[in-house]
Amino acid sequence: MINTVRGTKDIIPASISDWQFVENVFRNASKIYGYKELRTPIFEKTEVFSRSIGDDTDIVNKEMYTFTDKGGESITLRPEQTAALVRAVIQNSLDRDGANLRLFYIGPYFRYERPQKGRLRQFHQYGAESIGSPNPEADVEILLLANKIIKELGIKEYKLLINTLGTENSRKNYKTSLISFLNDNKELLSEESKMRLDTNPLRVLDSKSEKDIEVMKNAPIILDYLDEDSFNHFDTVKKLLTAEAVDFTIQPRLVRGLDYYCHTVFEFQSSALGAQDAFGGGGRYDGLFAQLGGKPNPAVGFAMGIERILLILEGLNVSHKDENECDIYVICGNPDLSAKANSIAEMLRNKNLRVITDINRRSMKSQFKESNRFKARYSIIVAEDELTRNSVILKNMLTTEQTEIEISKINELDLN
Ligand code: HAM
Repeated sequence: MINTVRGTKDIIPASISDWQFVENVFRNASKIYGYKELRTPIFEKTEVFSRSIGDDTDIVNKEMYTFTDKGGESITLRPEQTAALVRAVIQNSLDRDGANLRLFYIGPYFRYERPQKGRLRQFHQYGAESIGSPNPEADVEILLLANKIIKELGIKEYKLLINTLGTENSRKNYKTSLISFLNDNKELLSEESKMRLDTNPLRVLDSKSEKDIEVMKNAPIILDYLDEDSFNHFDTVKKLLTAEAVDFTIQPRLVRGLDYYCHTVFEFQSSALGAQDAFGGGGRYDGLFAQLGGKPNPAVGFAMGIERILLILEGLNVSHKDENECDIYVICGNPDLSAKANSIAEMLRNKNLRVITDINRRSMKSQFKESNRFKARYSIIVAEDELTRNSVILKNMLTTEQTEIEISKINELDLN
């Protein structure tokens, strides 16, 4: 037997109703907030991601599925959507007229991580991106959209952590003092963080190593280095969130694992998830358009991991399964009458009823069993006797009441 690749999963029919429920929530909320769907290819030229996410991030360094195709081009399976979406906006001139662009996406993403609960190598995200506004109102709209989704999903126990990375200028000043602090404490840091000190010191802030966490408790925080612009931006975000009664916690060490962020960054966490507790995250990325060769365009967005959301919903024990998989099961014990059974089934399907017929030439008894298995609300029995009178038997599977009805009257039946 050949199995799926480690860290990937089949989504089987038994769980599809949960996926569809979640996807419907995403689509509805996106529509309500004016976000339109964008779909890009699953793979891109590698530089789309290496130039944007950052050379010294885990994603680019260790986790990308990169290969050389037969034409010698370096290709990468998308590890996230934001960079590819920006590439698509630039390439298709979607931002030509300077209007705000509100876009959303749902799809599979690929990261070569160590698989564990809530962490896969092929996983799925929903995300939304607001392009064209440098203002905190856009950050807040994105957070309100995320908030609406979480509410509609029925998730109550979660935390929204926010922080600011400020302007480039604020970050520069902060980095200088952070590097000096890290150098003073170098001996106490993990090997990985010692290396990062030179290449990407901000990433030491969200190191998972116990040693680093201890050291970083005394590290300087960016909130003390904000210039006026950064302070005002963050202040307005907080005020507007508070005005909408959105609960949040300020986490000054939150930097996120991608390099393109500035100003507001945030993460949604749930204790139901264990070690991989972030079920969503995002932030502002005003520099990314220019980085990918476009004209500068401010933007902010977020993405949520669908598998992690489903894990949270699993814990809430709410089922989104359809109780009845079928409205009517057409039972026919004689293959010579298949044409009649089919035309009755088609007549009912044209009324948008969900109809199943037997395609295995089974006995009437097993067809009845099957109609129970499908939890059909009705069955229609097609048999010689009734057909001589141009009629069939309609059985209400709940009350077991049977009535003979004329085939010509089937169209008028009200079975909804
Ligand atoms: P991210 O934090 O890397 O951000 O991913 C967003 C979410 O995707 C995570 O919070 C998590 O729920 C889910 N996720 C990530 N990796 C995995 C994995 N290996 N297995 C299962 N779920 C996973 C981004 O991707 C940014 N593009 C978000 C963004 C949009 N920022 C601005 N706009």
